[in-house]
Amino acid sequence: MTSVKNYIKIIVQCKTYNGGNMPYNITEDKIEEIKNLNDIVDVINELVPLKRAGANYNARCPFHKEQTPSFVVSPDKQIYHCFGCGENGDVINFIMKYKNYTFVETIEYLAKRAGIILEEKKTNNINNEKNKRLYEINRQAAIFYFNNLKNNDKALKYLEKRKIENKVIKKFGLGYAIKEWDKLLVYLKKKGYKEEEILQTGLIINNKKKNSYYDRFRNRVIFPIVDTKKRIIGFGGRVLDNTLPKYINSPDSFIFNKGRNLYGLNIAKNHIKNKRFILAEGYMDVIKLHNYGYDTAVASLGTALTDNQVKLMRRYTKKFYVAYDSDQAGLKASLKALNILKKNNLDANVVIMPDGCDPDEFLTNYGKIKFDELIKKSLDYFEFLDFYYSKLFDKDDKIQYINKFFDSINNINSIIERELVLEKLAMKVNVSKETVINEYNRIHKKYVKNKTNKVVKNLNSKPTNKIMRTYEDKIIEIILANADMVLLLKDFIDNKIFVKDEYNLIFKKLYDYKIENKEISVYNINELNNLKLNLEKVEEYKNLPNEDIMLLFKECKKKIKMKYYEEKRREYKEHLKKSSKEIEAKELMQKIIDLDKEMKKLKEEVY
Ligand code: UTP
Ligand code: MN
Repeated sequence: MTSVKNYIKIIVQCKTYNGGNMPYNITEDKIEEIKNLNDIVDVINELVPLKRAGANYNARCPFHKEQTPSFVVSPDKQIYHCFGCGENGDVINFIMKYKNYTFVETIEYLAKRAGIILEEKKTNNINNEKNKRLYEINRQAAIFYFNNLKNNDKALKYLEKRKIENKVIKKFGLGYAIKEWDKLLVYLKKKGYKEEEILQTGLIINNKKKNSYYDRFRNRVIFPIVDTKKRIIGFGGRVLDNTLPKYINSPDSFIFNKGRNLYGLNIAKNHIKNKRFILAEGYMDVIKLHNYGYDTAVASLGTALTDNQVKLMRRYTKKFYVAYDSDQAGLKASLKALNILKKNNLDANVVIMPDGCDPDEFLTNYGKIKFDELIKKSLDYFEFLDFYYSKLFDKDDKIQYINKFFDSINNINSIIERELVLEKLAMKVNVSKETVINEYNRIHKKYVKNKTNKVVKNLNSKPTNKIMRTYEDKIIEIILANADMVLLLKDFIDNKIFVKDEYNLIFKKLYDYKIENKEISVYNINELNNLKLNLEKVEEYKNLPNEDIMLLFKECKKKIKMKYYEEKRREYKEHLKKSSKEIEAKELMQKIIDLDKEMKKLKEEVY
C-alpha cells in the first residue's frame, strides 16, 4: 500500500494550477518519516471520529452518504478503506481527498502536525523570502484597512446601505482606505517595510517626477483577495459613490496573478462538498451571495474567466452555476465561461436573472427564496444556447441559428455530450438528427458518429504525422499536458535509456526545467520544435483522467525500455561476432542471456 506506485499516483495528482510547484525537497525517505509520525488512526480521528471495532476502527464514510459505517481504518496496515464506495488509501491519500489538498499541501499539513521541518528548495529560497515579505505587507495593509473601516461611519454606512452584514464584512475582511495620500505608506514604513518592497505589492504608486510614493487605494472600500493558501495576494477597492473608475485592483505582481486566482475561492473551497461553485462577475456579488448563505460563490478578478481559473476550480468540483449579470455583456461573458467549462469537461448551468440584474441586486430586491427558484430554473448548455440565440430562431433565420450552435458545440470536449446537444438541436429545428450531424461534421470536420455508426474522418489530422510519432514524442506530449510526469522518468534519464541521444538530452532538459520550476512548453524549449509533436493530443491529454494518462505513460515507457534492450542486444551480438577472445565471448553471451530474461520480464509486466 505504501508502495512507490502510490506516490507516483500522488505526484501525478499533484498537478496544481501553477504547474505543480514543489517548493520542498520531498524525498521518499521524507515521505516515510511523515507517515511514520502521523498514525492514520489519529489523523483521521481528528477529522472523522472513529469507533473501535476489533482490530480496526470504523466510521460512517466521509466520502459518500451512508447510514451504517462501512469506512474502516486499519492501524496495522495504516490504510483506510470504504466498503461502500471503494475509496481507499493511506494517510496521505486521505488528507488529499478529505481536505481537497494538493500533494504538497498535504505534506505541509502532515509535517506540521508531526513537527517535521520540510527542507525548502534552495533555488527558491531567495524568492520565497522576498515573497513572504510581500505577503506580510499585504496582511499588515489588510489589518490597517479593516481597522479604518471600524472607525469610519461613511464607509460603514455605505456597506449598510448595500445590505452587507457585519458577519460577512468580517468573513471577507473588508476594509476602508482613508481619503488621504499616504496613510498606508506611513503606517507600513513605521512597521519597518521599505518603499521598494511595498511598491512590489502594488499598494503604493511611484510618482517619478516628484520622486515620491503615494497610496494606490484612497477613499475606497477594500476587498482583500486571498488565495487558497490563505495568503493575501492583492486588493480590490470600490468608490463610495459614482466616481470613475468604480473599482481599482492591485496590479499583477510576483505574488498576484489575476488569471490564476478567484475572489472568494479561499472560502468557497471549504464548503464545496456535494455542491456547485457559483461563478459571479463581481466582488459585491460574491459578498452578497455569501451573505445569503451561498457559500460557494466565487468571481474571476475583473477579467474574463480563464482556463487556468477553471483548472484551479476543477480540483474541488466538476459542477458549476454561472451567475453573471444578466445584461447583454453578462450573457456574452456567460457563453464564454460556459465554453471554457465545457472544454474542460465540466458541467455548468446558467442562472438567468430578470431585467439585467446581477446576483447582488437580485438578492437585495427579491431575496433568497426567489434566487433558489432561479437556480432551479437555471439553463443547461443546450437551453442556454437556445435562449442566447432565440432571436435568430424567432426571426426564422434557422441556418444562422444552427451555425451559431455548431460554433459553440465545437467547445464541448466530450463526444457523447456533443452528440446529445446536436440531437436536441435537430429536434428544435425539426430536421433529422442524421442530417444535422452530417452537416456539423461537414462544416467542422469533427468526429461525431452518425446514425449508421460510421465515423466521419477528421480531415484535419495528418496520417503521416501519426506514423512518424515515436513513443518518446508521445511521452513528451504527456509531459506537456502534465509536467509532473517527467519526474517519473528520472531513472531513464540518469541511465540514458533513450536510444537516440537527442532524446536523452531533451528529457534531461525537461527534467531540469521541472526541478527548477520553469514552465515546460514548446515556446521555451526550442528542441521540442524539431520534433513532430501533435499539440492537439496535448490538449486531449489534459482532460484525460489520471488513471488513463498513467496507463498511456507506462505503455510508452515500456516500449522505450524494450527498444533500449533490443538495441543493447544488437550491440552485444555485433560485438560477439567480432570477438576472438573466449572469455570476452562468454561474458557477452551471459549478457545476452541476462538481457533476454529482462526482456521477457518486461514483456510480461502488467500495469
Ligand atoms: P460591475 O461593474 O458589474 O460591478 O463589475 P459590481 O460587482 O456589480 O459592483 P457594484 O455592485 O456596482 O458595486 C464587475 C467586476 O468587474 C471588475 C470588478 O472586479 C467588479 O467586481 N471591475 C469593474 C473593475 O475591475 N473595474 C471597474 O472599474 C469595474
Ligand atoms: Mn453590482
